[in-house]
Amino acid sequence: MAEGKALLWIPDPSGALAGSRLEPAWLPVFYNPVMEFNRDFSVAALQAYINLYAPHKPVTVVEPLTATGVRAVRYALEVEGVGRVIAGDIDWDAVSYAKRNVEANGLRDRVTVTRADASALLYRLSREEPEPILVVDIDPFGSPAPFLDAAVAAIGHRGLLAVTATDLAVLEGSKPQVALRRYHASTARMPHSREEAVRILLGYIVRVAAARDKAVRPLASYWADHYVRAYLLVERGARRANWVMEHCVSEALWCVDLGHATFTGCPEPGRVKRIGPLWSCEIGDQDFLSEVERLALTRFSYMSTQRRVSRLASTLAAESTLSGGRFYYEIWALASSLKLNMPPREALAEELEGRGYRVAATHLSPTGLRSDAGVEEVRSIIPLARRRRRRAP
Ligand SMILES: C[S@@+](CC[C@H](N)C(=O)[O-])C[C@H]1O[C@@H](n2cnc3c(N)ncnc32)[C@H](O)[C@@H]1O
Repeated sequence: MAEGKALLWIPDPSGALAGSRLEPAWLPVFYNPVMEFNRDFSVAALQAYINLYAPHKPVTVVEPLTATGVRAVRYALEVEGVGRVIAGDIDWDAVSYAKRNVEANGLRDRVTVTRADASALLYRLSREEPEPILVVDIDPFGSPAPFLDAAVAAIGHRGLLAVTATDLAVLEGSKPQVALRRYHASTARMPHSREEAVRILLGYIVRVAAARDKAVRPLASYWADHYVRAYLLVERGARRANWVMEHCVSEALWCVDLGHATFTGCPEPGRVKRIGPLWSCEIGDQDFLSEVERLALTRFSYMSTQRRVSRLASTLAAESTLSGGRFYYEIWALASSLKLNMPPREALAEELEGRGYRVAATHLSPTGLRSDAGVEEVRSIIPLARRRRRRAP
C-alpha cells in the first residue's frame, strides 16, 4: 500500500477486524490508517520546524516506537533537510516490517532500525551520538509518560519533541487516580476536558524537561480523533526553565456552577474543583502554525488529508494567540448555568467583536470560542446573542 510518498508493507488486516472495523492493536504489527492524518500533520510540522529553526544542516530524527516504520520512512522521504532517521521498536516483528519498508523505499543509507527499548535507545543515543539529535517523535500505545525523560535527555538545544498521547480517559479527567500517578496532576471530568487533556500533557512535559534544566514551549498542540498531539521546542538553560515553570505552569479552577474554567479565579461563589498543575500559556505558536498551513497548501498538496491539515493549522494559528492564561468558552455550559438555551456561536462572536474584543473559533469544540473578553462580559452578552438575528452574509 501507499501513504504519502511511501510504499509500505503492512500486516494482513483480515485477522484484525471487529465486524467491518479494523482494530489496529490486534495486528501482529501496529498500523492504524486513521492516524494517516496524524502522520501527514507530522510531516508538515517537521518541515515547518526545519524551515524555521534548523534550516542549515541535516537534521537527525529519532522515532523509537516505530512499528511498521511508516513515520520514519515518511520523514526521510518527504521532509527536506532530514539527514538520518534512527527508528526503533521493542518488538522483533515490528523491526522486521520496518526494515522491509526502509528497503522498499530505497532508504537503507539514511534510515536505521534497531530492536531496543525506546528509553534505552534514547539514553544511549544521548551519550554516544557525536552530533546533537534535534528531533524525537514519541508515538506510543497510550501514554507517552514513561518515555519523556529519555526523550528530553536526547534532544539538543532548540530541538523538537513530538508527542502523541492516546490515554484520553486519563487526560480528560475520567481516571483521576491514574492521572495523578502518570502525570502528577489532579484532573476532573468537565465541559473543557479536551483542553484539560492538552494542558495536562503539556504541563507534565514541561516539568519533566525542567528537571533536566531544559525549557519547552509548545509550537503546536491539538486534540483530534482519539488522541492529543504536541510539538514542543526544547531549549537548554536553567534560567529559561525557571521562567517557564514560574509563568506557564499553574493550577486551574473549574467553576462548576458557572460552566467556566479559569486560571485566575471564579467570578462568583459556588462549587469549585481544582485541576493541575497544567500548562497555562499559549498552546501553539502562530508563526509555526502558519508555516504548517502554508506547507500543507503547497509542498504537501499531494497528501490525502491535506485539507484537514491546512484547516486545523489555520484554526490553531488563530486560537493560539488567545490561549495564553485562559481556557476557551464552552457556550452551552455558560448558557446552561444561566438557565438559557445556547445562542449560535456566530451571534455571540459578533456581539463580542462589536464591543472590540478579539474572538477565534477553537478546534476543541464546535460550540466553543476563544476571546480576550472576560467571563462576566461573555455571560452578560449571552442573552443578547440569543435574541440577535444573524446578519445576512
Ligand atoms: C502505536 S505503535 C507506533 C505507531 C507508529 N509510530 C506509527 O506511526 O504507525 C507503538 C509501538 O511501540 C512499540 N513499543 C511498545 N513498548 C515499547 C518500548 N518500551 N520500547 C520500544 N518500542 C515499544 C510497540 O511494539 C508498537 O510497535
